[in-house]
Amino acid sequence: ESVLTTKTFGRNYHYVPSVESSNSVARELAAQGAPEGTVVVVEEQVAGRGRLNRGWFSPYGKGLWFSIVLRPSFLPIEAPKCTLMAAVALIKAFRRLGLNTAGIKWPNDILVNGRKLVGILTEMNGTMEAIAYIVMGIGINTGSTQDELPEFIKDVATSFAMEGVEVDRREALNVILEEMEKQYNKVLAEGFDSTLAEWKEFSITLGKDVEVRAPGNTYEGKAVDLDRDGNLMIERADGSVDRVVAGDVSIRPA
Ligand code: BTN
Repeated sequence: ESVLTTKTFGRNYHYVPSVESSNSVARELAAQGAPEGTVVVVEEQVAGRGRLNRGWFSPYGKGLWFSIVLRPSFLPIEAPKCTLMAAVALIKAFRRLGLNTAGIKWPNDILVNGRKLVGILTEMNGTMEAIAYIVMGIGINTGSTQDELPEFIKDVATSFAMEGVEVDRREALNVILEEMEKQYNKVLAEGFDSTLAEWKEFSITLGKDVEVRAPGNTYEGKAVDLDRDGNLMIERADGSVDRVVAGDVSIRPA
C-alpha cells in the first residue's frame, strides 16, 4: 500500500535491499526507458558513490539512500543546478520533519552545526544539445549513532538520530518527494532564479571566509554571492572576484 501523495515522483518505485549504488540501478532503469519520477530506494549500498570520486558510507537501514530519474526539457548546461534545487527542497522537507538547523554548504552538502547530514550526487546522460536523463542521488544519514561511524567521518558526519530528531523513513521519504516534486515543477515553470534565491537564503557559505580547492588551485577568499549559473563568487584579498564552477570549499573558523 502506498503512502505517497505525489503526482509523479515515486509513482514508479523500486525498492532493493542491497545494491552497489542506487544511482547505478536508476541509470540502468533510465537507459531502459524508466519514466520521469522513477525512484530507487535501497536499504544498503556496498559501493555507494560520492562527489569527486569519493565513496559514500551507506550502512543497512541507517539512512535514506535513494535516486530519482528526471527527464527535463532544459539544456544540459542547466543540469548542475538540479543539485542546488534538490538541496533547497531537502531543507524545506527537513523543517517539516522537525529539523530546523540544517543549512547548505556550496554546492550541495547539507550540514548541521558544521557536520554533514546529506550528500547529493547528480549524474547526467545525453548530448550537448539534449538531456536524455538525469539521476539525482541523495544520501541522508538517519539512524547512525556517533560510535557507529567509521573513523574517517566520525568528526565530520551527523545523522537525524545524532541531532535528536526521530524520523520515520517512510514518512520522511514522502515529505521529501513532495518537496522535490514541488521545487522541480517550479523550476520547469519559472526557471531556476527563484530556486537559486531560496538556495541563498538557506546557504551557510555566503558571507563567510572560505578556502577554495578547485582543480589544481587552492586559495582563500570571501564567498560573496551565487551567480545565475549556480557558481560561487569569491572575493579575494586584492578585490578581484573569482567564480568557482567545480571543486570544494571549506568554511574557515571565524
Ligand atoms: C557527496 O556528498 O559526495 C554525494 C553523496 C551522494 C550519496 C548518494 S546515496 C544514494 C546515491 N547513490 C550513490 O551511490 N550515491 C548517492
